[in-house]
This record gives sequence, structure tokens and C-alpha cells, in this order.
Amino acid sequence: MSALRGRTIVVGVTGGIAAYKAVEVCRRLVDLGAHVVPVMTDAAEQFIGRTTLSALCSEPVQTSLWDEVSPIPHTVLGQRADAIVVVPATAHLLGAYAAGLSTDLLTNTLLATRAPVVVCPAMHTEMWEHPAVRDNLAVLRQRGVIVVEPDEGRLAGGDVGSGRLAAPERIVAAIEAVLGSGDLADLHVVVTAGGTREPIDAVRVIANRSSGKQGYAIAAEALSRGATVTLISTVDLPTPTHARLVRVETAAQMQIAVEHESESGDVVVMAAAVADFRPRAVADHKIKKADGPPEIVLEPTPDILASLGARKRAGQTLVGFAAETDDLIAHAEAKMRRKNLDLIVANDVRAAGVGFQHDTNAVSLLRPDAPMVTIGLTDKRSIARAILDVVVDIRSGPK
Ligand code: CTP
Repeated sequence: MSALRGRTIVVGVTGGIAAYKAVEVCRRLVDLGAHVVPVMTDAAEQFIGRTTLSALCSEPVQTSLWDEVSPIPHTVLGQRADAIVVVPATAHLLGAYAAGLSTDLLTNTLLATRAPVVVCPAMHTEMWEHPAVRDNLAVLRQRGVIVVEPDEGRLAGGDVGSGRLAAPERIVAAIEAVLGSGDLADLHVVVTAGGTREPIDAVRVIANRSSGKQGYAIAAEALSRGATVTLISTVDLPTPTHARLVRVETAAQMQIAVEHESESGDVVVMAAAVADFRPRAVADHKIKKADGPPEIVLEPTPDILASLGARKRAGQTLVGFAAETDDLIAHAEAKMRRKNLDLIVANDVRAAGVGFQHDTNAVSLLRPDAPMVTIGLTDKRSIARAILDVVVDIRSGPK
């Protein structure tokens, strides 16, 4: 299976005659299962039409820092990307990137990403051999940018020499290589997300503050690492490309879905905030105010994770969460042992920027027989990456 499957690849197209070949690269990436997001510079639009790229890619072309839905499209693109490829990369783009200039959406995105970057230069031989271009490439290489060297061959205007854009298959192979084989390839990862809603009557529910963002970030990260992902969710965030969504509402529905999916689940991550109690009786009509405050009698919900832990299969990895306000580590440790977990993700939900509803989180990762790992405040995708790094480590067995 291609390392590209489920990966988000931002393809930057700059203004060179080889821009038309970017179309073929995008098509191949999509065929291999990648989610391809095209970004064009103004000059690229002199060479190919937006419509062509938009039609072939997974999302419409983006060109501007200013006219898109998001106020900060470059950071959104930079953070979403599993890899960025610039094809073709003109001398101008290489110079701007090496100098750290951010003049348009593409150069801003290149500076706003931590994902690997592949550049595919294409230009006339004289330009390709110019010391300024060579120096810029040397700087970029030093910073870890992958350069797909151009081929020799026919250039614009009928000249022949080095500087012709590398063949699409070489470019695709370079992107596959930089993404690695996918350390979760061939695994079924089941992730739950969001808070359950337990009905009181026909219109009212008992809910909690979970946004589902951490679970969705874990699903997206698992996909980008080659896993088959089932996302069991109570919320309506955009489903990560290639994830299978099972939409649920209550703890009871979540239990049915999780038990079914976990039969084939190699890794089960219970990121959902499952209600611990639900109303014992649910009124099938709207309870009227005039009848006075209702007395709601609660009963415990099934502990989904504890029951998975009680009958964990050999080779199955169970990950739980512990959202705490006091004695974080002691409570998380106790939960991990009580529920027979391989890993518990503990967060102090009273700390600033942590847990429920935030885009950031700070966690401690506890395992029964390995030292604790603490991740300071960062975006939820980075937390997801750290959690799955530990999952991979657990599955690789004792050292
Ligand atoms: N969980 C679950 N089913 C429930 C409740 C929780 O599967 N009915 C899972 C959550 O998804 C989470 C973990 O168990 O991964 C921690 O849940 P929590 O309610 O905090 O654990 P409890 O043992 O109920 O501890 P507490 O006393 O803090 O409520």
C-alpha cells in the first residue's frame, strides 16, 4: 500500500513552463490515495488554469492569503500538510524560500509548516547553473528540504540541457520516500471522539464540554501514518479523508459501536468523554415547566473501556484518557490499572489551554511498565502524534 494513502499533500505550483506537468503529478498523488491541496502563485496562473487543478485535486485551488474562508490560510495549510511539494519550483521561489521571504500564500505556507518539503526545480540551463540558484539550493538542502534534481532534455524554446522538470514518477517516488512506509500501515485504529448526550426527555440532554477535536486529530494522524481508521463520534466536525465515520449520540450507542469495531480493532483509542451517569427514565414528551422542577434519577452507564480491557485480545492496544482536576497522575495511574490499559493520556483540564474545547492540549502519557512522557502545551495534532508514537513503541514489544 502506498505511503501516500490518506496523507494530505499540499502541491505548490509556481510560474514556469513546466507548470502543466504539475497536473500529472497531482493526478498520480490522488490515484495513490493522497488528499491533494493545490496552491498556485499568480505567475503559475499564466501557465495553467485553476479549473484544471481544482478538478483533479481533492480541494479547489488556493492562491491568496486574503480571499479564502480562513483568515490564516497559510498556517492552516502548513499544519494540515503531511508533506509539501513545489512543482515546478522556479529560481524565484527557491530564492524566496532560502531567504525566508513570505510574499504570497505559497511562500507563507512553506514558512508555516513543520512537514517535510520537496522542491522540484525547473528552469533554463543557464539559470539552473547560476551560482545564486546553486547557493539557494545548498541552503535549502542544509535545512532538510528534499530537492528532486531536474533532468536533462528539451527545454522551452527548443533548447536542450539540464533544468527540465523531473519526470512525474520520480517526483511521486520522492514524496513517498519522505513520508516513509507508514508505521501504522495494515492496522485498524478505532477512535472515539466527543461527549455523549444522554436524553432526559424529548428535547433535553445531559451533555459535557468535550469538543471532539483531540479524537479527530488522532484519527487524522493515524490515517496519515497508513492506518485504516474508524471514527466513532458524537460531533459534526469535518471527517478526516478516508476515515469511516460512525455517528452516535449516547453512551449505549457508543458501546455498541465500539464493541463491534473493536472486534477487528488493533488499536482502540477512547478519546470520547462518555457520560458516567444517565437518566434512568427518559420522558418521551417534553417535560413542562409548569409541572415544577423534575427529579431526575440517574443510573451508571456501562464503562465501555473497562469492559474492553476485561476481554482485551492478544495484540490489541487499548488507550484511555483521564481528564482530571486533582491528583492527575495518581488518578490516571489508577484508571490505567483498573481498566487494563496499555496507555492512558492524562490531562489537567483546569490548566489554561488544556483539554475540553481548546485547540491545544498538554498531557502526560502513562504506561504500566515504562516511564511517563510529558508533552507541554501544543496543538492537538502534535499531541496525537506523540500518543501514536507511544502506541507504535508499545506494539514493537519489549526492548
Ligand atoms: N470511559 C468509557 N465509558 C464510560 C466512561 C468512561 O469508556 N462509561 C472511558 C473514557 O473514554 C476515557 C476513560 O474511560 O478514556 C476515563 O473515563 P473516566 O470517566 O474519567 O473514568 P472513571 O473510571 O469513571 O473515573 P472518574 O472517577 O474520574 O469518573
